[in-house]
Amino acid sequence: MSGVLKAFILLLITLGAFLWIGASVTSLTGGEHRVSGEVEISPEGGETIFWGKGRCFTCHSLGGQGSAVRCPNLGQFGSKFPLPIGARAHERAKERSEQTGQEYTATDYLVESLAKPDAYLVEGYKNEMAIVYAPPISLNLNEIKAVISYLQSQGGELDMAAIETPTELAKGYFDRILAASAAGGGDPGNGEEMFAYTCAECHTIDGTGGEVGPDLAGISRKGLKFIADSILTPAKKITEGYETFVVVENDGRKTTGIRSRETADEVDITKATGEVVTIAKIDIQEITEDELSSLMPQDLTEALTVKDYQDVLAYMMMLKDE
Ligand code: HEC
Ligand code: HEC
Repeated sequence: MSGVLKAFILLLITLGAFLWIGASVTSLTGGEHRVSGEVEISPEGGETIFWGKGRCFTCHSLGGQGSAVRCPNLGQFGSKFPLPIGARAHERAKERSEQTGQEYTATDYLVESLAKPDAYLVEGYKNEMAIVYAPPISLNLNEIKAVISYLQSQGGELDMAAIETPTELAKGYFDRILAASAAGGGDPGNGEEMFAYTCAECHTIDGTGGEVGPDLAGISRKGLKFIADSILTPAKKITEGYETFVVVENDGRKTTGIRSRETADEVDITKATGEVVTIAKIDIQEITEDELSSLMPQDLTEALTVKDYQDVLAYMMMLKDE
């Protein structure tokens, strides 16, 4: 063999090796299908999430696929699950319509099972489904839409239109997921519980709660930054009408709170505890506004874990004006 031919063959081998390595690397990283981490809203995209980032497989099997047995099988499986989830969703939707008096489509049911899993519990199972848009799973809305299309396609019809132009009901749930993502992926359900423990003694939402602070219905309109600041540094920007006053009476007694009512001859001061003190004006020696302090505690976030605080923010971001 001539030297030239040998060199030529070596060149071909080297070139082939490079091409092979290149192809392997591309397939390893997911090739062209992966656009900067964004999932494609399709059953294929959803399949990747189901068996990967979404961790669905850690609890659910799909027919004979997967090895998790403690949560509902999402495929056709035994007498308990005669229909795979795409077809099963139609049955569940009928059940939900009867239970709630609201019209449910199969897609509405699938969306609800991910957005608010405790709304309907599969018979024989507990409320142990993960909130998949909260940490540690933290799927975003597109990833959830992809998963829904994957679930639809399991024995049902793929209905992209139902995902792209959702019903009022599904849209409400999509908004819930967006609000949670916007607030750093908190879980609004847990946020609501934390709110009941930590905040409701002073704030009313939907007609229940205390009246020391402002009613928080529709608070999301003020934006995440405003809400976070209100919790982290309450005194920095005090809501109008909720300024803190200090009343000193002629006998030296001092009362601190919000001036919640005033007539010609008396004032009501609502203290941080919610107690309302009525003071006759003739007894008042001095009434001054304390611009540097809010009745809202300055150290609330210390009472909450970082996660609980994120969850409260997610809950706040869901409070929209009707
Ligand atoms: C920590 C375990 C866990 C994880 C993770 C989990 N689930 Fe579930 N899931 C459950 C349990 C338990 C139920 C039954 C209780 C209920 O109805 O909420 C359930 C119910 C469901 C249902 C309703 C099934 C039916 O028969 O109507 C669907 C759909 C579902 N999960 C989809 C998913 C998807 C998709 C993911 C991943 C994005 C996921 N789940 C992740 C535990 C889990
Ligand atoms: C001891 C009573 C008290 C508690 C507890 C309390 N707040 Fe407040 N909050 C107030 C008062 C009073 C104001 C109005 C004064 C101000 O702006 O600082 C206020 C203001 C707010 C505002 C601004 C409202 C607006 O419309 O401008 C938000 C948001 C808020 N609180 C959220 C919370 C959250 C979330 C918690 C629980 C983690 C909480 N508060 C706990 C008393 C309280």
